[in-house]
Amino acid sequence: MRILITGGCGFIGSNLVRYLLHHEPAAHVVNLDLLTYAGNASNLADLAGDSRYELVRADVADRDAVRELFRGRKFDSVLHLAAESHVDRSIHDSTPFIRTNVVGTQVLLDAAKEFGIRRFVQVSTDEVYGSLGPSGLFTETTPLCPSSPYSASKAAADLLVGAYHHTFGMPTLITRCSNNYGPYQFPEKLIPLFISNLLRGEQVPVYGDGLNVRDWIHVEDHCAGIVAVWRSGRPGEVYNLGGRCEKTNLALTHELIALAGRTFAAIRYVADRPGHDRRYAIDCSKAEQELGWTPKVDFSVGLRETFDWYRAHPAWVESIRNGEYRSYYERQYGGKTAANTSVSE
Ligand code: NAD
Ligand code: DAU
Repeated sequence: MRILITGGCGFIGSNLVRYLLHHEPAAHVVNLDLLTYAGNASNLADLAGDSRYELVRADVADRDAVRELFRGRKFDSVLHLAAESHVDRSIHDSTPFIRTNVVGTQVLLDAAKEFGIRRFVQVSTDEVYGSLGPSGLFTETTPLCPSSPYSASKAAADLLVGAYHHTFGMPTLITRCSNNYGPYQFPEKLIPLFISNLLRGEQVPVYGDGLNVRDWIHVEDHCAGIVAVWRSGRPGEVYNLGGRCEKTNLALTHELIALAGRTFAAIRYVADRPGHDRRYAIDCSKAEQELGWTPKVDFSVGLRETFDWYRAHPAWVESIRNGEYRSYYERQYGGKTAANTSVSE
């Protein structure tokens, strides 16, 4: 069974490639990835020489390259993860978000339609629903109300996926998941950024009052959910995936500070993210009832293991924190480079 995974060199994609090869013995995985700043082929270095895995470097928005790949490989299924994924970068410049997330999804859908793909899974996000007040949960029928250029581009892609099912009868499915954490996450997102800053003795930049809420899920649970939807979901349906683990950013930051053995002086409050969504929380009961999936990883155990993974992989983190990352960090955090934000405690 030949499966195309897009974005397989990113955080969730690399965990998914490994998860699928482990749990689906009949699977052959082709990983289409452009290797942008967020893509790292070494995330899957352990698969070198595995005849069931192949990396193809290409742009998902490049129609000719994508058609060529589909023509040659006879895929059964597509698991589409390739995306520009960071909200803050979409606020600086939405251009690559529209190209990759919207045009890339359209190109992939057209190829999947032309070559008769049997399952097309769009890996989407709870951010397409917008922001919640202090109570309530996102369900699959919550209206789309994206706030950032990133979430607007994902919502546009989801609408295209739904339209290809409705108009052409394509066997598409959509997952919408909450915030992931775990190994191989690029250290521009809250958890890996804060861990790597703390391990270097630097402060962590908390946006606004730190009381925004996110619903955390371990990446392994997300991968299990994507595979469950791919195997057993009903075409045309949306499935929410979440961790039932709501935390304010400040509470999470305190847990990370405790793991690092630091004090609250490690926190630096910085200007809020423009348009910052206040609260996300997912109702994932549909996936639980229909697919028998449920999030399993206990958050405090998963967070400790994640912390330990970053501590055990300094070379992986350092290779990223050089180069392009430094100019991004400077632009995002007001020119305060890693070196001059250190504090003594
Ligand atoms: P990531 O930024 O870590 O990885 C994205 C991958 O896509 C990289 O390997 C990159 O090289 C590749 N890519 C980017 N542009 C490409 C292009 N034009 N052509 C081919 N490949 C390209 O992202 P992630 O956090 O692993 O997220 C993966 C998917 O899951 C995204 O679609 C995202 O919207 C979705 N998602 C993420 C989360 C989360 O918490 N991280 C939660 C829910 C859904
Ligand atoms: O909800 C799913 C989404 O989760 C995915 O679709 C996105 O791809 C993924 O990046 C993530 O989006 P968030 O914007 O929620 O994640 P991020 O790690 O960027 O931020 C988490 C929270 O922490 C958010 O409230 C903003 C805050 N934050 C983030 C950073 C990077 C800070 O306070 N300081 C920071 O430096």
